[in-house]
Amino acid sequence: MITALDHIAVAVPDLEKSIKRFLEDFGLEFEGTEEVEAAKTTTAFFPLPPTSIELIHPLRGEGPVAKYLEKRGGGLHHLCFRSDNIHEDVERLKARGYQFLADEPAPGAHGSLTIFIHPKSCDGVLIELNQPGDEH
Ligand code: CO
Repeated sequence: MITALDHIAVAVPDLEKSIKRFLEDFGLEFEGTEEVEAAKTTTAFFPLPPTSIELIHPLRGEGPVAKYLEKRGGGLHHLCFRSDNIHEDVERLKARGYQFLADEPAPGAHGSLTIFIHPKSCDGVLIELNQPGDEH
C-alpha cells in the first residue's frame, strides 16, 4: 500500500552549489549525502516533514542521471511514493499494465528498497516506489 509522498527529487549538475542553496538560502535541515551505487547517483536529502527534497547527481559522471543532465540540464526528476510492501505494490501495478524500469526492487538510499515506474505509464512523470529500510 502506498502510504506517503516520501520525497521529490531534483537532478542537479553542481551538487555542492545546490546543497548550499537548500541549506543556506532556503534554510532547510541537511541530512547529508550518500552514494547509491545501484542508481549511480550521489544523493543529498533535506527532510521537510512529512516529505523530503532529494538532490541527485551522477556518481562518477555516469548513469541515467548523467544522461538526464546532458539532455535537459537540471530539473524536477521524480516523485517518490513510500510503500509498506513494495513487492505487493509492484505485483498489483504490473497486473494493471504498468511498466517498470527494472524487474525487481533494488537497494536505494538509507537502506531502502526502490523501483521506478516507467514515465510512459504515468503521463510522463517518473515515479519511484520506496520501502524504507530499518535505519529510516
Ligand atoms: Co528518489
